[in-house]
Amino acid sequence: MTDTALDDDIEIRSSEIKLHGPDAFEGMRKAGRLAAECLDMLTGHVAPGVPTEKLDDLVREYVLDNGAVSATIGYRGYRHATCISLNHVICHGIPGPKALKNGDILNIDVTVIVDGWHGDTSRMYYAGEPKVKARRLVDTTYEAMMAGINAVKPGATLRDIGRAIQTLAEGEGFSVVRDFCGHGLGRVFHDAPNVVHYAEYKDRFGNTHRAADTELRPGMLFTVEPMINDGKPEVKLLKDNWTAVSRDKSLSAQFEHSIGVTEDGVEIFTLSPKGLHKPPYA
Ligand code: MF3
Ligand code: CO
Ligand code: CO
Repeated sequence: MTDTALDDDIEIRSSEIKLHGPDAFEGMRKAGRLAAECLDMLTGHVAPGVPTEKLDDLVREYVLDNGAVSATIGYRGYRHATCISLNHVICHGIPGPKALKNGDILNIDVTVIVDGWHGDTSRMYYAGEPKVKARRLVDTTYEAMMAGINAVKPGATLRDIGRAIQTLAEGEGFSVVRDFCGHGLGRVFHDAPNVVHYAEYKDRFGNTHRAADTELRPGMLFTVEPMINDGKPEVKLLKDNWTAVSRDKSLSAQFEHSIGVTEDGVEIFTLSPKGLHKPPYA
């Protein structure tokens, strides 16, 4: 059992998963909104020829201009305000000097801290005109995230979220990445529970892995952030110890929202204020 005395926003705990009250939801709305505004702001800047570190600079400045803090700068030695994951990069791509090319698909992931609360969200972007297959992967990944979120309500389980995502993604012939998952968040960046994006799978040794059947309860705060591959789900970590790519180099896509379980369903904290939910944004 962790220390509750310091954290007066927490009303109860169900095992190790915190149940938050109205003040936490108010805090998460503000943090989520700023994170979503960062992603809205970027839509006009993603284009062929643009180096990904330019996009990172824009987010870093936007966060500071709004009196907030980037949660990723200094997090476990990470030095950037975004993760930018291109094409076959699954997640945690590091912004750098390399310019975007026509047809690239990329995920930009932003986490901000506002008054101590974390807003964590990511969307896909297109540089120029991606191929039909890439656009279908991106559309499916968005639909999979929303299907997972729509499964959230008191009495449903974490496994129901994973099942909704897996069914949608595999129904389109894509695979769900298993080595990264969503997470509880609030005043803590990465908290319990793990939110896996599958219901069940068999590994290469024949062992079955099943998502937890933990019941969702009002006041839980977590992310839903499926990574979907056009190929096999296996991951390889590059030598920088951050960049995760698909082992078979297949294209990968991801979207992420921060959400809260309410009395009768779900609240999404990181919805785009401008309605820029998925590409193309123009
Ligand atoms: N924003 C990522 C997530 O969805 C975490 C990034 S941690 C970093 O949980 F250090 F790589 F930035
Ligand atoms: Co996250
Ligand atoms: Co994120």
